[in-house]
Amino acid sequence: MDDGVHCDNLMVRYTTDVIGSVAFGLKCNSLKEPNCEFREIGEKLCYYRYSMPIVSLMNLFPNLFRKLGFKIIIEEVSQFFFRVVREAVDYRDRTGEQRKDYLNILMELRKLNTADNLTMDEITAQAFVFFVGGFETSASVLSFCLYELALNQNIQEKARREINEIIAQHDGKPTYEAVKEMKYLLQVMYETIRMYSVVPGLVRKTAEDYIVSNTNYVIEKGTTVIIPLDAIHYDPDIYPNPEQFDPERFTKTEVENRHPMAWLGFGRGGRACIGYRFAEVQVLIGLSLLLKNFRFSPTQKTQIPMKFNMYKLFRGPEKGVYLKVEKL
Ligand code: HEM
Repeated sequence: MDDGVHCDNLMVRYTTDVIGSVAFGLKCNSLKEPNCEFREIGEKLCYYRYSMPIVSLMNLFPNLFRKLGFKIIIEEVSQFFFRVVREAVDYRDRTGEQRKDYLNILMELRKLNTADNLTMDEITAQAFVFFVGGFETSASVLSFCLYELALNQNIQEKARREINEIIAQHDGKPTYEAVKEMKYLLQVMYETIRMYSVVPGLVRKTAEDYIVSNTNYVIEKGTTVIIPLDAIHYDPDIYPNPEQFDPERFTKTEVENRHPMAWLGFGRGGRACIGYRFAEVQVLIGLSLLLKNFRFSPTQKTQIPMKFNMYKLFRGPEKGVYLKVEKL
C-alpha cells in the first residue's frame, strides 16, 4: 500500500505563498519550488531550539532568560526579515508601486506626522509577526482537519456536499463571498481547533489580585498565568465525549448554550488573534478547493492516534500527516 501524500508539507507551502503575498507583496512560489528561501526560513522559524518545558519556563520568566542570553528566534531568521522588508520598502519607495497588502498599510503609517508613525524597525517587526502568526498556524489547522476528515468519511462527505452546493451558486469558484456562506465547513474548522489548539496555552499577567471562585486561593497581582486550552476543550462537562470529532458541537444553538470562554482557539480579549478572520478565509478557501477536487483517506503511514511535535513553535503533527488522495 502507498504511504500517501505528505499533506502538512503541502499545506504549509500553500499558506507561505498566501502570507508572502499578503504581508510582503512577494511571490514565494513555494508550492512549485519547495526549496525557495522563504520556505527554508519559515522552516527554521517554526522549530524551537529548546524543548517545550524550557520554552514554558522562558514564557514564565522572560527577563531571567533574556539576561541568560536565550533567544527564541535565531539570528539568521531575523537578519533575513530585516533584509526582505528593507528591500521591499526601498523598491516601493523608488518605483512608487502601490499594492493592496499589509506592507502598504505599514508604509502609509510611516508617513504619519504624529507620534504614532512607524519606524523601519517597527515595520519589520509588524510584518514579521504577521508572517509568524499567519502561515504555520493555518497550515497546521488545515492538516489536522484533513486528518480528521480522512478518519470520518461521513463528515468529509457532508462538508463536500455543502462546498459543491455553494460553489455552484458562485460560478464554480470558492470566492470570499462563497466561503462566507459555508457554515458547516466553518463548524468543521472550529471543531478541528477545539481538538488541536495550535497555540495550546494563552499567556497573561494578572493586573490585580484575583480570588479564584469558591476557594481561598489568590493569584497575586503581577503573576504570569498560562491558560491551558486542552484542559477546557477536552473537559467532558463542556464537550461530552471530547475525543470524538463532531462539528455539530459548533451549530449556532450549541455555541449559544455554552459559556462564552468554552472555546478559546483564537484567544480572547485585547490580545486575541488579530488574524482570525484572515485565517478563516485562508483555511476555508484551501479546504473548499481540496475537498471539491479530492477525497482523503488514511494509509498505513497515517499516525493514529495523532501525536504532536514537541519542538514546534505552534502545535503540529509529530510525524507529518500522510493521506491517500484520490482525484474526484
Ligand atoms: C487558524 C489559524 C490561527 C489560529 C488558531 C490562531 C490562534 C491564535 C491565538 C490562540 C493567539 C493568542 C491569543 C491570546 O493570547 O488571546 C494568536 C495571536 C496572534 N495571531 Fe493568530 N491564529 C491563527 C492565524 C493567524 C493569522 C492568519 C495571523 C496573521 C495573518 C495571525 C496573527 C496573530 C497575531 C499577530 C497574534 C498576536 C496578537 C497579540 O499579541 O496582540 N494569526 N493567534
